[in-house]
Amino acid sequence: MAIFPPEQRIWWKEPLHGFELVWIGVCLVWAIVMFGTMIVWHIIGEQNLSNRAYRIDPDVFAERTEAMVTEYTVREEGDTGIPVVHPPAGSDIYLQASLWQWYPILELEKDKEYHLHLSSIDWQHGFSLQPTNINVQVHPGYELVMTLKPNRAGEFGVVCNEFCGIGHHQMLGRIYVVE
Ligand code: CUA
Repeated sequence: MAIFPPEQRIWWKEPLHGFELVWIGVCLVWAIVMFGTMIVWHIIGEQNLSNRAYRIDPDVFAERTEAMVTEYTVREEGDTGIPVVHPPAGSDIYLQASLWQWYPILELEKDKEYHLHLSSIDWQHGFSLQPTNINVQVHPGYELVMTLKPNRAGEFGVVCNEFCGIGHHQMLGRIYVVE
């Protein structure tokens, strides 16, 4: 079987069929609606984070985390020995991901604002705050900074939701929010 050229050499200059024009119109309108939805949902959806990202050396991030831990540790978590840190309201707080733990445990005050810095010092991890709908990827070499104001007291879980090896399922952290 041979392949023949089209009978009409200039086959793409046919007049547009009415249906095709309608479909192009429908797609265009839908694309504009979807584009608008992104902007509107960012404002009213209450689930998109306005976070900033900066390059950071993993060693520098670890140092800053350790400085906060040294200064503001209030106790150790019984079952794990991980320090529980109660930093002052309005301050920069650090949560460090590594194979396979979240460090340290943060204790925050309800209705106070904090600047949370998130980064990894080895591989890629995922920050999932339970039971809220907050999910971000955590990369080594970059820190995400987000302003957060807890509006509910209680115990929150931090789950790694990016597969990071054999201990991935054990990579659980905690954040306490106190009145
Ligand atoms: Cu860290 Cu999965």
